[in-house]
Amino acid sequence: MSDNNPILSGSAQSVAAYQDAIEQSSQAVIDWLKQPEMYQGKTVDQLRERIQLNFTSEGLGNQAAIARAVEYFLKDSLSVHHAQCVAHLHCPSLVISQAAEVLINATNQSMDSWDQSPSATIIEVKLIQWLREQVGYSAGDAGVFTSGGTQSNLMGLMLARDAFFARQGHSVQLQGLTGDLSKIKVFCSESAHFSVQKNMALMGLGYQSVIQVKTDAFSRMDLADLKAKLAQAKAKGEQVMAIVATVGTTDAGAIDPLVEITTLATQENIWVHVDAAWGGALLLSEKYRHYLNGLECADSVTLDFHKQFFQTISCGAFLLKDARHFELMRYQAAYLNSDFDEEQGVPNLVSKSLQTTRRFDALKLWMGLEALGKKQYADIIDNGVTLSQDVAEYVSAQPHLELVMQPQLASVLFRFRPESGDSAFVALLNQRIGDVLLAFGSANVGVTEADGITCLKMTLLNPTVCLEDVKILLASVKDTAEILLNAEFQS
Ligand SMILES: Cc1ncc(COP(=O)(O)O)c(C=O)c1O
Repeated sequence: MSDNNPILSGSAQSVAAYQDAIEQSSQAVIDWLKQPEMYQGKTVDQLRERIQLNFTSEGLGNQAAIARAVEYFLKDSLSVHHAQCVAHLHCPSLVISQAAEVLINATNQSMDSWDQSPSATIIEVKLIQWLREQVGYSAGDAGVFTSGGTQSNLMGLMLARDAFFARQGHSVQLQGLTGDLSKIKVFCSESAHFSVQKNMALMGLGYQSVIQVKTDAFSRMDLADLKAKLAQAKAKGEQVMAIVATVGTTDAGAIDPLVEITTLATQENIWVHVDAAWGGALLLSEKYRHYLNGLECADSVTLDFHKQFFQTISCGAFLLKDARHFELMRYQAAYLNSDFDEEQGVPNLVSKSLQTTRRFDALKLWMGLEALGKKQYADIIDNGVTLSQDVAEYVSAQPHLELVMQPQLASVLFRFRPESGDSAFVALLNQRIGDVLLAFGSANVGVTEADGITCLKMTLLNPTVCLEDVKILLASVKDTAEILLNAEFQS
């Protein structure tokens, strides 16, 4: 290899290049972290114009490539750690998660076979065992780390589908889908994540297989409507493949009544998948763990660590109550998980994953739990839930603001109420408030709908944010609304 060896290895030249590249990048990150702005405020068109690829025959070299990434990517990135960055379930990350990423990336282990990730495989399995304990499942290792909630929900739905067919003596894995597929239904609430629809379409069953159950005033699944819709489905000769309950809906943070849903499903022999992508963080909570009662009765569970567990993207998990269901997706590839390996008890995690090559994201959770300890982890999770309750009280006391729904997890749904204007006008005003705040780079507030009302959303995950910070944000909402009302928006 020439002096210009681009590969990471133990050679003196490679180690020096690695050190330089990491130092240059981490110094740039430190400078970026110190920027006071949440976002530089560039528009889509401005960024499209500004960002140009520069692939030359000879290459620019590491230093120049990093400098260009700093200029064109880093400087115009959103500061997710900023107190005014509250639009989405998009968390600031733990420092220890950054350190874990250094180890994950440099070692580049792949979780599809033990011989590509020896210690990593064992750590992931032990974490899955630990997570199962937290959920209240029996001892075991039926579970796997995933790229996030969408993939975990896909696994839950896919195994529910295949278990449903298996009960009728049919193997989807071998023979594919069969029969009148239009009769197969999945139930979830109107507020469940859209990945339920997307995944059902991906699985060949279409959006129309999803029956949306009404929600109550707090966006939770309405049990009476669930029962009524199940009865209607039965009367029409439809078959219920699964019920998806949500623990922490994306906007309201609503938690479906798990105990009642799982009890009903057990009576009817229906698979329950719980999407706890957000609310699963309460597994660590001291104050709010009881919100998850009933989770242990679910057939499968989605957890997401890149939400209120504060891990970098991506980091999720899928847990399966009964390990035997993993047989429904088992595939043996001689080069990865041969009979020989399996007889020897070699844990090749590819058998449990939709992915083949897979990152060692479990390391982040392991290091996070070890570094913070359960108490501090619980505190930073609980902080968002408690802060949201305080913010809701503050919002309710402001004459120009309206609390749209009482918070349940760490989000606050609210809207600006002008003195006059019909509902379309108020909806447009709130939409514009969100857009303008982002365009100026001053805040990223979510714009969404709750019960048909266009409203603003603050997702208050960040444990370094306090009520005073949120008051500043709400003052900018008010100022922006007034500017809009007084200026071009009037005309
Ligand atoms: C309730 C819920 N489930 C699933 C998802 C999808 O998770 P991911 O973005 O990790 O795929 C989200 C994303 O916000 C969510 O809010």
